[in-house]
Amino acid sequence: MATDHERIEPAAEAATIENLLREERTFAPPAAFVAAATAHDPDIYARTATDEGFRAFWAQEAKRIDWIEPWTELLDWQLPYAKWFVGGKLNISANCLDRHVANGLGGKVAYYWEGEPGDSRTLTYAQLLEETCRMANALRSLGVKKGDKVAIYMPMIPELPIAMLACARIGAPHSVVFGGFSADALAGRIDDAQCTTVITADGGYRKGAAVHLKASADDAMNRSPSVKHCVVVRRTGDPVDWNPDRDHWWHELTAAQPTTAEPEPMDSEDLLYLLYTSGTTAKPKGIMHTTGGYLVGTATTHRLIFDIKPEDVYWCMADIGWVTGHSYIVYGPLANATTGIIYEGAIDFPEKDRWAQIAAKYRATILYTAPTAIRALMKYGHDEFARDDLSSLRLLGSVGEPINPEAWAWYWKYIGGERCPVVDTWWQTETGMILITPLPGITTTKPGSATFPFPGIKAGVVDEAGNSVPLGGGGYLVLERPWPAMLRGIYGDHDRYVETYWSRYPGRYFAGDGCKRDDEGYYWLLGRVDDVMNVSGHRISTTEVESALVSHPAVAEAAVVGRTDPITGQAIFSYVILRSGFEASDALGADLREHVSEVIGKLARPKQIMFTPDLPKTRSGKIMRRLLRDVAEQRALGDVTTLADAGIVATIREQSGRGED
Ligand code: WT7
Repeated sequence: MATDHERIEPAAEAATIENLLREERTFAPPAAFVAAATAHDPDIYARTATDEGFRAFWAQEAKRIDWIEPWTELLDWQLPYAKWFVGGKLNISANCLDRHVANGLGGKVAYYWEGEPGDSRTLTYAQLLEETCRMANALRSLGVKKGDKVAIYMPMIPELPIAMLACARIGAPHSVVFGGFSADALAGRIDDAQCTTVITADGGYRKGAAVHLKASADDAMNRSPSVKHCVVVRRTGDPVDWNPDRDHWWHELTAAQPTTAEPEPMDSEDLLYLLYTSGTTAKPKGIMHTTGGYLVGTATTHRLIFDIKPEDVYWCMADIGWVTGHSYIVYGPLANATTGIIYEGAIDFPEKDRWAQIAAKYRATILYTAPTAIRALMKYGHDEFARDDLSSLRLLGSVGEPINPEAWAWYWKYIGGERCPVVDTWWQTETGMILITPLPGITTTKPGSATFPFPGIKAGVVDEAGNSVPLGGGGYLVLERPWPAMLRGIYGDHDRYVETYWSRYPGRYFAGDGCKRDDEGYYWLLGRVDDVMNVSGHRISTTEVESALVSHPAVAEAAVVGRTDPITGQAIFSYVILRSGFEASDALGADLREHVSEVIGKLARPKQIMFTPDLPKTRSGKIMRRLLRDVAEQRALGDVTTLADAGIVATIREQSGRGED
C-alpha cells in the first residue's frame, strides 16, 4: 500500500528548512500603548542599521550607566572575542543600588518577595543596598577577594540576588547553580571554576515540600577540595549537618557587619559571572559574561522591550538560576530601578491560580514567562483564574522556546485581556541579552514570531553552505555583528568556544537554531537544529508540526520527533497531551493527523500519534526531544495511534528524572 510519504517528491536540495506553517493574524500595538511607549519611533531600526549608527546607539545607551572611569574605545572586535567599552571602570552593584539611593529612590521597592508557604517580604533599594554591603563585608571577612569564584546554590529567596550583588560588589565572579540540580551537577561546576566559597540555604519550598539544599551542597563540597567556606541561609529551619571549619550561618556572619562597603572598581571586561549551560553530549559549558557590556546590554533591552516606567511592577517568573533570571530579574531590572516580584515556589501551588493571586496582590503590570508555563495554564483552562483581578497587566513576555501561535493567542486573550502587547523574546545563555523581539510600542506582532532583531543587532538566515536564504525560506540563524552582552568565551576552553559558535560559518555566530523569515522579513524560530526532522529529504522543523497540533482544540501540548523509517528516512512521531475534557481515541488520533495535514501539508502529517499525560522536560521547561526520540526508536509500534501505557510513561518519567546533565 502506498503511503502519503511515498508520493511526496524528495526536496531538490536539503540545504534549508521547509517553511510550512502560515499564520495570518497580526496585532498592531494599541494606540494608547504607542502614545506612552518608551520606544515609539520606528526610525530606531534604520538609525542603528549601519555600523556607525549601531556604535552611536550603544555609546548613547552607555551614558545611562555610572562609570568610575570612562571607556575610551566602544568595541574591540577581534574575532571571535569582543571587548566592549574598553578601558572603562565601573561596579555593577553600585549601578544597581547606590546610584538609585543617591538619586532619592532609597524608599522605592526593589523586590516584593513571596514565599511558597505564604510568607512575604518587601525590600526597598536602601534595604537591598544595606544587605548587599553586609554580605560583601562578610565575604571579605572570609578572605574572598576580586577574582575568586563563588558558587551560589539557593532557592528563590531575597538572599539569592543579595549574594549575587555582594559578589559583584567585591569583584568575585559568581556561578549560580539552579537549586533543582543534583549534588553531582553542583560538584562538577564547583570543580570546573575552582570555587573557593559556596553560598546555599538549609532548604527551600517547592510544591509544599522542603528541598534540602544544604545536604546536596555537603555532598558536592565533600568532593571539592577548592571550597574553603560555605555560607548558609536559614530558610526552612530543618536540621543540617555542620562542618564548623567550613560552614557559617548567613545571619550570624552578616549581623555585625557594617551596612556600607566600598565597591570594587571593575574593568569593563572583568568577569562578572559564569553560568553553565548543558551541551547535548559533553560536559556543561561555563559561559563567561563580563561587566560593562553586559550591564549596558541588559539594562537597555530591559528598558525598551518591557517599556519600563517608574511605576511598573514587573514580574519575570523564571528562576534566577537561569540566564533569564540573571539578566531580567537581577541586573537589567535593578539597573533600571524597577520594582520587581520574586516568587519562591511553583506557580500552580497550592492553588492552580497561585500565580494570578500574586499578580493581583501586587498589581503586576508586566509578566514575563515561558511557553511551557503558558501551555500548562492553558491545559487547566482560563476558568481557574477567572476570580483573580489581572486588570493591572499592560504587557506580556515569553521566552525559552518557540511559542505556538495558539498558546500566544491564548496568552494575549485570557491573561492579557486582549489589551496587552505580547513580546516573544529570542535569546540564549550565550547572548546574555534579548536579540530578536518586538518593541511593544512599534512592532506589529504575529503570534509565534519573535518578529525582528533588536535595534543594532544584525541577524541572518543561511543555508548549509552559508548563503543567505531569501525571505520566505528557512535555514540556520546566525548573528553577523557583536553585541554588548555577548559571551566572552567558554571558561577554560577556547577550542570548544571556537568550534561550537564560530567554525560552522566563519566570521558569524552560529546560534544552533533553525529559523525562517516570512515575506515581510519576520523571524520565526524553528527550534534547535538537532531536532530538525528529515522526511523524504524535506527538512521539517519540529516546532511547526507541534504548533499545528496545538492549534487543534483538543491539544494542550505536543512534542514531535523524527523516527527512523525505511521508506522516508524519518517519519514524524508525535506525543500529544490533551486539554482537560478530551479523551484519547483512535478517532481523535486520525483527526489530529488530518488536521496537521490540512494546516501545514501532507508532508508534515505525523505517521504516529501517542497520547501521553506527561512529557519529559529539562529543569528549565524545554521538552527533551532527544529522549523522546529514543523512546520512539526503541518501541515496536504498529498502529497510527497509540495510548501511552504505564510502562512508557514510567520510562519517560524515569529518564527525564535524570535531568539535563
Ligand atoms: C535556546 C536558548 C534565553 C533565556 C532562556 C533560554 C530557545 C529561547 C526563544 C524564543 C524560540 C527560543 C532557543 C535558544 N529559545 N527563547 N523566544 N523563541 N526559541 O536560554 O537555556 O540558553 O536556551 O532557547 O532554542 O537557542 P537557554
